[in-house]
Amino acid sequence: MSAPLHSHLQQLDANGIVEDVLCGLTASRKTLPAKLFYDEAGAQLFERICTLDEYYLTRTELSILRHSINEIGERVGPRAALVEYGSGAGVKIRLLLDALCEPSAYVPIDISHEQLARVASELAGDYPKVAIRPLCADYTHPLSLPQLPDHDRRLGFFPGSTIGNFHPAEAAAFLRRIRRAVGPGGMLLLGVDRRKDPAILNAAYDDREGVTAAFNLNVLRRINRELDANFDLSRFRHRAFFNESAGRVEMHLEAIVAHEVEVGGAAISFARGETIWTESSYKYDREQLATVTAAAGFEVERLWTDADERFWVALLIAP
Ligand code: AVI
Repeated sequence: MSAPLHSHLQQLDANGIVEDVLCGLTASRKTLPAKLFYDEAGAQLFERICTLDEYYLTRTELSILRHSINEIGERVGPRAALVEYGSGAGVKIRLLLDALCEPSAYVPIDISHEQLARVASELAGDYPKVAIRPLCADYTHPLSLPQLPDHDRRLGFFPGSTIGNFHPAEAAAFLRRIRRAVGPGGMLLLGVDRRKDPAILNAAYDDREGVTAAFNLNVLRRINRELDANFDLSRFRHRAFFNESAGRVEMHLEAIVAHEVEVGGAAISFARGETIWTESSYKYDREQLATVTAAAGFEVERLWTDADERFWVALLIAP
């Protein structure tokens, strides 16, 4: 948007989303960035998604981690300095901190200042020998890590299959930044959702209770609140499907009727059936995982999976 923002809108747009929203909604193929999902209500809905029967990802990753944690500890070795990209509630890291031999430091990186401060102080109390160095930042942008002990192996941690929310070229670029941050001999423990039967994927992103639908539609509610927009949520429906040729689940919001919406002073028209593409969640096979990790300068040290072969926990090493 080139014109200066109306001051009323400037005040409303405390989170600086107006440019992204207007750019996405005025494009010929309407999109919204997936980061908009995670306001307070969205974060709560995502927590509910993680407990749904259909959404196998969270519990599967956790069970793989629990099963493989001792082997992970052996392969990583003593005195590792951990860096977690998107530390959230700080649950999974405890498994690692408990299993690793004398981890020297832990850098949780998260955009939510409050949650980061709380998690860091809890961990500092529970792990007094680990130097906890929180970093409040958007980890999708380049960042400088706090000072870490020079001789300790660095271990990046990026669970949850959030790597799937990057398009493959972005995923490679992001992993390359982690590769640089961990340095030669450094490692990355990565959660990756595997390609599988589309019926399982479609159910995981369109659950019976409609929690994922509410999560998707919440983006419009957020835009109404933060940008003085007038989306009528009853005129949109949640659509999620596995796009076989692209290898990703796509989430969209589909206009049920042709209509116009006002967003930040701009009129946006929707044709009946037109969608806003809100998220991609790529599902990897072995070859794609090898390609993306190699493009980032990592080698796959070990892959762990579950009995149904739905998910991978991958340990990557920077040679
Ligand atoms: C955060 N991310 C890994 C989730 C996913 O599965 O792509 C976000 C999500 N979208 C719908 N359900 C969950």
